[in-house]
Amino acid sequence: MTPPATRRDARADHLLTTASSPVRHARARRAARIRFAFAGIAAVALGVGGAAAITAAVLGPGVSASAGMIADAAPRTTPVPLPQAVTALPVPTLAAVAAIVDVCADAAFVAALAAGDDAATIAAAGGAESFRAAVASGQAACVSLGDPARVWAVVNKTRPFEPADYRPAQLGDPSGMRDISGGALRTDAAAALAEMAEAAASAGAGQIALESGFRSYGTQRSTYQRQVSARGRAEADLVSARPGYSEHQTGLAADVTACSPGCIDMGGFGGTPQQEWVAAHSWEHGWIVRYVEGRTDVTGYSPEPWHLRYIGRELAAAYHEGGWESLEEFFGLPAAPAYVG
Ligand code: DAL
Ligand code: ZN
Repeated sequence: MTPPATRRDARADHLLTTASSPVRHARARRAARIRFAFAGIAAVALGVGGAAAITAAVLGPGVSASAGMIADAAPRTTPVPLPQAVTALPVPTLAAVAAIVDVCADAAFVAALAAGDDAATIAAAGGAESFRAAVASGQAACVSLGDPARVWAVVNKTRPFEPADYRPAQLGDPSGMRDISGGALRTDAAAALAEMAEAAASAGAGQIALESGFRSYGTQRSTYQRQVSARGRAEADLVSARPGYSEHQTGLAADVTACSPGCIDMGGFGGTPQQEWVAAHSWEHGWIVRYVEGRTDVTGYSPEPWHLRYIGRELAAAYHEGGWESLEEFFGLPAAPAYVG
């Protein structure tokens, strides 16, 4: 591990180490320090009981509140000195904390949500990280992670579509990029994917093509059944979702592959220049790599470096900045390693 450059870094590293955080790189350490600052203020504002839950959700990947932090969280009316690690960071106002705690009491937030405007909803929450923290801490009851039409939808082995045969309203081709199987995506995701492919080519990473986009309930049934026939049910469940449980049904998931020098099967996508570029830059275009190494116990699937999920630019930036590795952890949801029943 690289030695901390400053006393502030040393203090932050100590906090992260003692809290068993999996966050390892510098960007994520910075983000964790910011989350620490927000959690501390929230704790002061809300008192020990409510603050404990919020602290756990706001701190981020694998970081839990220490006994000392909770003990420091008694309600006060005067400002409390922040730990040395965060004194140089901007201190959120109590108004900002209130927005994190109860976004659903904010008229602008509720109006944007009701209008179906995901970007405006996130902006009304004070940005993607405030939105995430409010949802993850259970302080955003009006936000449904089960609504498949929202960019923040979470579909996994314990969160099927309701109704099971849901179809997105607006599907379109990602024009301007190679589309191997004539796949469609939700129109916003299609535009963002085409833009991403163009950026990859401009950066010299090579051609990226769409291999599979929206899949209906019926298509997923055949896809899954093929995997069961080839591998048996247990192995199929690690690589293919059962019908009614696949992110592809949202129109917001894209399987991509490399098409230069020639198109390869997406199973060989890992390790290509295109895959490395996607892992580093897809978030800039609103996409995340949904199933990564080391998160099978959380997502229920083996790593799929080709399976991208569109969550919009704002949330993808927060996901990247926070060093998150699964949507479940990002939104404070339980792990979904297996189907229920
Ligand atoms: N391969 C992913 C898990 C799906 O079938 O949705
Ligand atoms: Zn996929």
